[in-house]
Amino acid sequence: MLYRTLPGTDLQLSAITLGCWAIGGRWWGDDVDDDAALELIDAAWDRGVTTFDTAPLYGYGHADELLIRALGERRHDAVIVTKVGVRWDADEHPRSDLSPAHVIADAEASLRRLRLDTIPLLLTHWPCESGTPIEATLEALETLRAAGKVRAYGLCNVDPEQLGEALASAPIAALQTPLSMIRRDFHGGLRQRCGEIDKSGRWRQTLGVLAYEPLARGLLTGKFLFLKGPPPTFPESDMRARDPRFSEPVWSRLSPLLQALQTVGERVGAPPAALAVAWVLRQAGVSVALVGCKRRAQLEESLQALALLRRDRVFAALAPFITAARP
Ligand SMILES: NC(=O)c1ccc[n+]([C@@H]2O[C@H](COP(=O)([O-])OP(=O)(O)OC[C@H]3O[C@@H](n4cnc5c(N)ncnc54)[C@H](OP(=O)(O)O)[C@@H]3O)[C@@H](O)[C@H]2O)c1
Repeated sequence: MLYRTLPGTDLQLSAITLGCWAIGGRWWGDDVDDDAALELIDAAWDRGVTTFDTAPLYGYGHADELLIRALGERRHDAVIVTKVGVRWDADEHPRSDLSPAHVIADAEASLRRLRLDTIPLLLTHWPCESGTPIEATLEALETLRAAGKVRAYGLCNVDPEQLGEALASAPIAALQTPLSMIRRDFHGGLRQRCGEIDKSGRWRQTLGVLAYEPLARGLLTGKFLFLKGPPPTFPESDMRARDPRFSEPVWSRLSPLLQALQTVGERVGAPPAALAVAWVLRQAGVSVALVGCKRRAQLEESLQALALLRRDRVFAALAPFITAARP
């Protein structure tokens, strides 16, 4: 495993971080299984994955419970990344409330569920939908840090302007944002706010970047590749049934890239998932890739990314297909 220090902290993150959304058991179809999830987390730890990304929303606490059940005492040595802000009520769409009172209460609830005294890295899940100014939210996060309840904090899902505003008012340690071969908005203004040119003219990372959805929800693993075939179908319980990337006209546009991943992967002896994750880890500014998995075999494929990080020619061969797949 490769480890990266979160800038401004002593937290060491594993470059491949396990994303725990799917194992929560909601929105990812009917084949999510607790026993497979427990085995996955255990295997991840054995393979050097020490950073785990979760959120109260993931299975409404179930992902947290599985994580802690699998890790046991090892939870104190892991870097658990979790989030605050999202409220949900029965039958209601989740919404973000980043009022100081809710941020504090939500973080306290996570501490109890995760059975920790300190959350290593706490992030706001998405921007506030109830009018709280970002400064007030950041003050609440700073209060949690000063009280020793979080070691570092940051934001998810913000645009460059929101990130700039937050950076001006608090010592944010991390940004969590989507990035994959087919979702590259990170390159459009966020990346430049995550570092600076130092005195010797070199780029210096000042903010940790946790890139999520590196596999485009499984699309880049190649398993949905049916040559000249129709897009895949999903049960209603799987949000991909409503994801435009898995239907026409996007599906046909992505097909050459999927085929290239398959062909290049066969040539270098690596599964498409490994190429997709390695591509993310090779992007300037990225600290870690958050890889979502339901079971151990899926993680094993992504772990092969680590052996591909220096294969410039492999990624040069893929570059035209990635460019052509631009949304
Ligand atoms: N902050 C945020 O708002 C936010 C948003 C999204 C994600 N995240 C975090 O980022 C993590 C990763 O993102 P993600 O889970 O949405 O997407 P992802 O990592 O791109 O895709 C994960 C899904 O791909 C499939 N998969 C993974 N490896 C595979 C393999 N080797 N072969 C075949 N299929 C494979 C699995 O689903 P199937 O087996 O069902 O196909 C898995 O659940 C999440 O778990 C979460 O921790 C954060």
